[in-house]
Amino acid sequence: MPAIRIGIVGMGAAGWGFLPAIRGNDGFQLVAIAEPGTEMREAVAAETGVPVHPDLQSMLEQPGLDAVYVATPTELHPEHVAQVCAARKHVLTEKPMAIRVEQARAMVEAATRAGVVLQVGHSHSYDMPIRRMREIVAGGTLGRVRMIHTWNFTDWMARPRRPAELDIGQGGGVTYRQGAHQIDILRLIGGGLVKSVRATTFDWDESRRSIGAHTILLNFADGTAATAVYNGYGHFSGTELTSGIGEWGLAEVAGKRAAPAVAPTPEQELEAKRKRAKNAIPASAPHQPHFGLTLASCERGDIRQSPDGLLVYSKNGREEIALPADKSPRALVLEEFADAIAGKPVTHTGRWGLANLEVCTAAIESSRTGKEIELVHQVAVA
Ligand SMILES: NC(=O)c1ccc[n+]([C@@H]2O[C@H](COP(=O)([O-])OP(=O)(O)OC[C@H]3O[C@@H](n4cnc5c(N)ncnc54)[C@H](O)[C@@H]3O)[C@@H](O)[C@H]2O)c1
Repeated sequence: MPAIRIGIVGMGAAGWGFLPAIRGNDGFQLVAIAEPGTEMREAVAAETGVPVHPDLQSMLEQPGLDAVYVATPTELHPEHVAQVCAARKHVLTEKPMAIRVEQARAMVEAATRAGVVLQVGHSHSYDMPIRRMREIVAGGTLGRVRMIHTWNFTDWMARPRRPAELDIGQGGGVTYRQGAHQIDILRLIGGGLVKSVRATTFDWDESRRSIGAHTILLNFADGTAATAVYNGYGHFSGTELTSGIGEWGLAEVAGKRAAPAVAPTPEQELEAKRKRAKNAIPASAPHQPHFGLTLASCERGDIRQSPDGLLVYSKNGREEIALPADKSPRALVLEEFADAIAGKPVTHTGRWGLANLEVCTAAIESSRTGKEIELVHQVAVA
């Protein structure tokens, strides 16, 4: 099989974060990049040696491109995915795939019409412990899964942000940006088919308006109940609940807060974000990634993460399952992307991403209206 020749559009934290995974997979060859920021273009050209274009269209005109990873801001995903599909290239787009469900539906249709793969990732449901939890639940040895909880407490709201990242109308705030991971985790473990959503979202910091926290209740079609709790205000760190291990599998210092004493200007925030981009997402880590605490309760036992795998609590007592840490979650995303391009059935399709987005938008709508929202776009795990 010849290597899949891939390009990246958008070199922020997400774009830089994928470089090691692409380099580490012989099935892929990085052949082009598109990035409008001049300084960033120079930095990435020096780092990769591939042609770096000022915009997506000129990258799509470069001969010999098979696939594109869309790592631009969320509000641009619909337009960029449509462009890539029109050029008949396979597309891997970052989460959340869009802001509105209709946009996601149009993206799925565009990929279907063009006959190309549309995949949504990275998300923390690719993390090895979450995948193994799903396998245990699906294997049935612990009986049916009945409750799943994923709780995270971070300083997301206190880190440098572009204004759009805080604007709900542009896919900002923690429910879109971080809830997308949590919903993907819950849907993967629970099998995918969520019936309805009830949620309350919060905006309690006057100095930084956005959705900074939420509590979401998911009711699955089979009666499983799940909660996604997120607090991004940075006072308490969820790593205190996860043996000190953070989102990328590194030991973190509890109690640190990213917020500077004096609020930065938007220009300073942008500059800080650019500086942080290259190293924001590490390529490897000694422990399993922990996107907060995830706990699944089955009829005959419970499962949660340990620093290096899973802990299973059942009639046999507490047993630990060690999991390999040699592949990063992004390496696993690329493996699934290659499988999808080879025609194998995979989970994180455009339809799956659309179903995740439906839950996120329903949570925001539920909080606004005070009502439970019934869902219509859910799909099961492949
Ligand atoms: N899966 C994860 O863990 C993860 C982590 C971070 C971000 N993300 C997602 O990745 C996306 C990007 O987030 P980020 O934090 O990297 O953003 P960012 O703002 O740091 O970077 C976006 C990059 O896209 C470039 N860009 C802007 N407009 C463009 C255009 N028209 N054409 C080409 N490039 C353009 C910008 O110059 C910038 O370099 C978001 O959807 C976000 O939700 C996912």
